[in-house]
Amino acid sequence: MTDEKKVCGVELKDIANLCKRRGFIFQDSEIYGGIGSVWDYGPLGVELKKNLKDQWWKRMVYQRDDVEGLDAAILMNPETWKASGHVASFADLMVDCRECKKRFRVDKLDGKVCPECGGGLTDPRSFNLMFKTQVGSVEGTAQDVYLRPETAQGIFVNFENILNSSRRKLPFGVAQQGKSFRNEITTGNFTFRSREFEQMELEFFVKPGEDDEWYEYWLRERMDWYTSLGMNRDNLRLREHDKEELAHYAKRCHDIEYLFPMGWSELEGIANRTDYDLKKHSEISGRDLVYFDDSTGEKYTPYVIEPSGGIDRAVLAFLIDSYRSETVKDRKRVSLSLDYRLAPLKIAVLPLLRNRPEIVEMAKKIQGDLKGDYRVVYDDTASIGRLYRRQDEIGTPYCVTVDVESIDDGKVTVRDRDSMGQERVSCGSLKKYFEEKMDLI
Ligand code: GAP
Repeated sequence: MTDEKKVCGVELKDIANLCKRRGFIFQDSEIYGGIGSVWDYGPLGVELKKNLKDQWWKRMVYQRDDVEGLDAAILMNPETWKASGHVASFADLMVDCRECKKRFRVDKLDGKVCPECGGGLTDPRSFNLMFKTQVGSVEGTAQDVYLRPETAQGIFVNFENILNSSRRKLPFGVAQQGKSFRNEITTGNFTFRSREFEQMELEFFVKPGEDDEWYEYWLRERMDWYTSLGMNRDNLRLREHDKEELAHYAKRCHDIEYLFPMGWSELEGIANRTDYDLKKHSEISGRDLVYFDDSTGEKYTPYVIEPSGGIDRAVLAFLIDSYRSETVKDRKRVSLSLDYRLAPLKIAVLPLLRNRPEIVEMAKKIQGDLKGDYRVVYDDTASIGRLYRRQDEIGTPYCVTVDVESIDDGKVTVRDRDSMGQERVSCGSLKKYFEEKMDLI
């Protein structure tokens, strides 16, 4: 057993508890006992995940001029998965225990007996990770299809459509976020390895020969994205795949790894997929997926650099990275020091006395004025100390407190989550104050 606290200062169970208690992440269909490794994002989780996705989209699409977006469907013509190699080789070698019937991945086993009960094991069998379902309702004519195991193929099969409609020149990329599904065998570790999850993927098409340079560029750029949103650089590392580990389509691949409580684990993969996918789709579909370079008159299949991140894994890593547990004035304080761009709520408005109508009115007005620009909550359901603690624990960067003096001087107290410092700000300048503190554009 790894000592999770020693590895990264927090145990996964503390994060999972906080997520459930405060409404970030719940076990899916929990009232029926749940379903293995499928998760629901609650009121705060959905905000955090949305903010993270928006930050990725801003950086990968809006702040560049060489990337287009796409939202392809989850169901695809099954030929796609033959071309991509997923039907033949997206599989794990598995063994079953003859006694307790549990199933294990061969590459995760140390010995030749069941790690749970010591029972004998079956011979290894290949187990495809794609979920199969059917399209069509008439019995006998229904077609087997798969839930996509990666979003990337939606981009490759639309390469021609995007090229023709956007009139792009190389190099250019296509960004996509969305659900993927894998019937994972080794699960556990909270949301780290889920059966239904979201990916944020970019396929960046380049001229062959320029791929090595772009590959290095994307390694730097993606590392920088995580640290620019406040992730501790010491908890991130790049690890290159050796020849045995490389996927069938990749010339090179690096994982961005994060120091999770269970040890260094993959957060994002950055691969040079060469011209593998476009060539395979050309071969199997019969469509010529090539690029015509009108500056040189050449025709060629572009190479692809792919930064492929897991949204749920990034959410988990940011939660772990921002988790602080400390003692302040003899009391335990748990806080999430999330970057304000990621924080689910930006401002909490807290009236100090809820039985004073002037205070309540002023607090409600402040909430009303701010809520067009920020996710703001109003809370008067506990003492101020408890209200602060509640907001700290969910990572709200600022609390605005309205007290008796506010009625006379028109000023409120703004408290900073991380420093716990407080300052008096006049109500009239609150908007400007927060604009300077939180640049959400
Ligand atoms: N298109 C390339 C691709 O899908 P991958 O390394 O298999 O590559 C990319 O997946 C990312 O998707 C991973 O780095 C991880 O963050 C996320 N991911 C993969 N499987 C996952 C799972 N079962 N649960 C949560 N995230 C997963």
